[in-house]
Amino acid sequence: MAAPYTGQAFPPLKNDLLLRAAAGEKTERVPVWAMRQAGRYLPEFHEVRSKHDFFEVCQTPELACEITLQPIRRLDLDAAIIFSDILVIPQAVGMKVEMVPGKGPTFDDPLKTPDDMKNLKKDVNVYETLNYVFEAITLTRHKLEGKVPLIGFSGAPWTLMAYMIEGGGSNTFSKAKKWLYVHPEESHQLLQLLTDIIVQYLVGQVQAGAQILQLFESHAGCLGPGNFSKFALPCIKQISKRIKEELSVRGIKPVPMIIFAKDAHFALEELGESGYEVVALDWTVKPKHARRLAPNVTLQGNLDPCALYASEEEISKMTKEMLKNFGTQKYIANLGHGMYPDHNPDHLAAFINSVHRHSEQMNQG
Ligand code: CP3
Repeated sequence: MAAPYTGQAFPPLKNDLLLRAAAGEKTERVPVWAMRQAGRYLPEFHEVRSKHDFFEVCQTPELACEITLQPIRRLDLDAAIIFSDILVIPQAVGMKVEMVPGKGPTFDDPLKTPDDMKNLKKDVNVYETLNYVFEAITLTRHKLEGKVPLIGFSGAPWTLMAYMIEGGGSNTFSKAKKWLYVHPEESHQLLQLLTDIIVQYLVGQVQAGAQILQLFESHAGCLGPGNFSKFALPCIKQISKRIKEELSVRGIKPVPMIIFAKDAHFALEELGESGYEVVALDWTVKPKHARRLAPNVTLQGNLDPCALYASEEEISKMTKEMLKNFGTQKYIANLGHGMYPDHNPDHLAAFINSVHRHSEQMNQG
């Protein structure tokens, strides 16, 4: 495997709150960022998107970098997340995916039967095919000038498999889940193919300059405990283990890793022992319950994204309550899922500023 950009010198990091919280070290205030912080709630995002297709933005390092930096310029965030999409991996194995306005991601030719797996590229050169993501990361690390750390990410195997079979979003994911019951062997094969690519892809992101990684298992909830343990969790664990090994072999310092398995409240104990330093929570989980079940990790989350529709005063109150329940240490404040297109950026600012203000006060008091 070729090693692009290894050993590059980047501007020194000025705000390491997120990295310290992820490592379980003491922080003077709680770090905060928001999933989908680069996106459609920002007028400056629409400005770029009005001139460029979604995946063209992903594939053009200068544009991906610009959109990554947009929320950082406007808001007092403690992290940037590289602008891309989880669906670049299905594209890398040869599937055609488009972002259809008003509909979301749409696959031209989803996998119908296991036989269709023969059309997928089995030996993708991740460094060539997804080099544009690595270039965007390196460029962004420079342009950030050390202001905040840069988060790299990938979709987790089950979530990617679900999209590849459904061909887009779904309420039930019944087509993808059918594979687990009718074609378990082939499902494991597909999940393993994706796992191998994700490991290379995330190692490449760290080599390119990502300082922390988040794995998105957005469709964990539809599996339930049995299938989650059987199909999703083994891949999630394999990924954290192999990334640590691969980085060590290359003489690269390990980076903290965050697992976000949405709606997988039933698997909190297992997730807390899955080799990730941080477990991210959706808004349906009680902070104290998560602390009990996953006592050894840093927690991230979990304000209901819809809470940002409330007044700024209400947001401040709800944020204070959330901080009280999580405590100010081993904690990264975030939403329980991503920003919505009709969110008011000022209300996200109110959330961020409340996290900073209240957590500083709580640490002093
Ligand atoms: O968080 C960030 O700011 C970084 C960028 C990012 C995007 N997608 C940009 C995006 C990240 C981390 C993702 C991850 C992603 N993509 C996930 C996991 C997180 C989650 O939400 O559960 C998933 C499931 C996807 C797949 C995907 N991409 C969907 C379902 C959609 C449609 C959303 C919708 O409501 O239409 C996208 C499109 C997408 N990805 C947009 C952005 C900013 C908006 C599309 C546009 O500009 O037209």
